[in-house]
Amino acid sequence: MSNIIDQAQKIIEANGFKDSQFAFFRDASLLFTVSGLLAITLVKGKLEETTLPIQQFDIIISEWMGYFLLYESMLDTVLLARDKYLKPEGLIFPDIASIYMAAIEDQDYKEEKINFWDNVWGFNYSCIKDIALREPLVDTVDLKAVVTDPCCIKTIDLRTAKKEDLTFTVPFKLKATRNDYVHAFLAWFDIVFDCTHKKVQFSTGPHAKYTHWKQTVFYTPETITISEGDEITGRLSCSPNERNNRDLDITIAYEAPSEEKDGLRVEKETHYKMCVISLLVVAFFPFLVPSVILTQSASLDLTWSGILD
Ligand SMILES: C[S@@+](CC[C@H](N)C(=O)[O-])C[C@H]1O[C@@H](n2cnc3c(N)ncnc32)[C@H](O)[C@@H]1O
Repeated sequence: MSNIIDQAQKIIEANGFKDSQFAFFRDASLLFTVSGLLAITLVKGKLEETTLPIQQFDIIISEWMGYFLLYESMLDTVLLARDKYLKPEGLIFPDIASIYMAAIEDQDYKEEKINFWDNVWGFNYSCIKDIALREPLVDTVDLKAVVTDPCCIKTIDLRTAKKEDLTFTVPFKLKATRNDYVHAFLAWFDIVFDCTHKKVQFSTGPHAKYTHWKQTVFYTPETITISEGDEITGRLSCSPNERNNRDLDITIAYEAPSEEKDGLRVEKETHYKMCVISLLVVAFFPFLVPSVILTQSASLDLTWSGILD
């Protein structure tokens, strides 16, 4: 378990909040309603396994968002905290989260990240290509790469959401804004503090200021051709992985005009998996190949089985 809480304790003391029934703020009504005293109490441990000294809270503040909003599934814990500890009229900061999708032109990066496996220093590694493709890439994307309108595919209201709502299948419709190629779907999320007296919000999209969540890229096996006004329609399914609920299984099925066969649209479907091990592999594996693969095959097998499941 992390020891960051020890640093938090030092920060509390350094800012005069230790033994802080001596009022620090002149108008501290918000804090007074929490415990009757202006005090900050730290509790170390998983929320699910810890007993808190107070049973009813006015406000829950949590920064639970992961890549693609839901990666690492910390939202489950916030919903549990809400049901167990929040007063009926209590507030949650933030309280609204929405996931958006668009399609992007990304020829150069797809060459580097996916087609790279066709020729690794003269060796044919193309069997790895499919595995690399099924791993969403977390990276910043230039707004100029976006070739469709954005589409909001999911909104989560933390005041009412249930754990079951975090497993979902939703439709999407992406309207092309120019003639171009599509190499990937892009996802990002927006966050809103809706119940503050003055609404606060931010976006992690390609049009917004950089955040460490960046955006999430889902490369498609084929390149799609689009003309302005065309619509790519489809659905996205998302669920926590059965074996490790912090990982995410995501499926994107789509139909595009360029994929039509005999006047009928053909549906293409790709299964993706977001997991810690594979994120590390994409970051470091190119540098391990081929010098390490023979000497560390056991650990690499373990790595691949994590991705292939
Ligand atoms: C996304 S991080 C946010 C950290 C911090 N806000 C920051 O910006 O550095 C989520 C934090 O929640 C903690 N966490 C995750 N699951 C938890 C649980 N079940 N109970 C208590 N804390 C948890 C993690 O250890 C981590 O410190």
